Amino acid sequence: MSRVYNFSAGPSALPEEVLKEAAEEMLDCNGTGQSVMEMSHRSKAYEPIIQETEALVRELLNVPENYKVLFLQGGASLQFAMVPMNLKKLGKAAYVNTGVWSKKAIAEAKKYLTVDVIATSEDKNFSYIPTIEPVVGDYDYLYYTMNNTIMGTKWAYIPEAKRPDGTPIPLVTDASSCILSEPLDISKFGIVFAGAQKNLAPAGVTLVIIREDLIPETPAVENTPTMLQYKTHSDNDSMFNTPPCYTIYMMGKVLKWIKKNGGAQGMAKRNQEKADLFYNYLDNSPFYHATAAVGSRSLMNIPFLTKYSTGATDEASVAKEKEINDKFVKAAAAAGLVNLKGHRLVGGMRASIYNAMSIEGVKALIAFMDKFAAEN
Ligand SMILES: Cc1ncc(COP(=O)(O)O)c(C=O)c1O
Repeated sequence: MSRVYNFSAGPSALPEEVLKEAAEEMLDCNGTGQSVMEMSHRSKAYEPIIQETEALVRELLNVPENYKVLFLQGGASLQFAMVPMNLKKLGKAAYVNTGVWSKKAIAEAKKYLTVDVIATSEDKNFSYIPTIEPVVGDYDYLYYTMNNTIMGTKWAYIPEAKRPDGTPIPLVTDASSCILSEPLDISKFGIVFAGAQKNLAPAGVTLVIIREDLIPETPAVENTPTMLQYKTHSDNDSMFNTPPCYTIYMMGKVLKWIKKNGGAQGMAKRNQEKADLFYNYLDNSPFYHATAAVGSRSLMNIPFLTKYSTGATDEASVAKEKEINDKFVKAAAAAGLVNLKGHRLVGGMRASIYNAMSIEGVKALIAFMDKFAAEN
């Protein structure tokens, strides 16, 4: 079967040339006669692989010297707990609730400290990013989800926060679904973390970029497990235990592909072009419309509804809406455009167009949508 255009929200499409290169090296990586999957993580053969991946993260994101780059496990979801466990000092943190992933982070943080939800966009089903004034309070950190994978929204600005005495409050952000989709000023953050399975690599590793002074000697949360302490991983260069070796190797390859294609700037240009094309199509269509508010729209995840999603709750309307959505997803898959089913909280369809998605993929989707609209 020929390759499809994969619009999955995650794990997601990887650049084809990366997959080909990995396939070529599957049985013999760098003349070692071994697959990376078979190497000891402490071997001379593996060492340069993880080192190169870290160097590429630092280069592409312009990571300042006083930050650690960690490759952890447990997914982005484990960071929902590690952040409060390690950053707790004053015992209170500010969170912005912009949807499912923020809610999960809030629920987890509440186990370890007091959470102030300082803003939310729940009133409009999280279809926009709230505008917040500079935050002032005795907070250990301010947390937000930079790109909301399910709702298709993205922060267009970096919020500001300080303590009553004027000292800056560290910002923590979950950048799982937008990391390296455009440049990011890491120096504005205390922690940036991202599950890799959208823009960076296959599933299995979480990238954590943390300012060194935020890594506690001993976390204030009693009995924090060794594996959940940033210090454990920082002191051991992500090698305290066996890291996800193959996934880190794949991340290195994806990062080289990003570098070759213009780095973060190159990705921003590519992603803006794809998103402009798609939003422009949706905004001018009598059949489809985007759900995210202008000004808060994600470049990566684009949920959309058809004219049959009227909001009516009578049985016939709900059945018609479901019928059209199911028909769309099925027909799209048959046309080689897969994983377009929307999340149940938004409904309709969702096209995730991460770095690896080409402009040709977006054009193919639009051509299909046009035909589908004409027929329905
Ligand atoms: C923004 C965001 N945060 C966190 C997660 C959870 O990531 P993981 O499955 O790696 O725990 C996801 C997964 O889709 C996500 O999109």
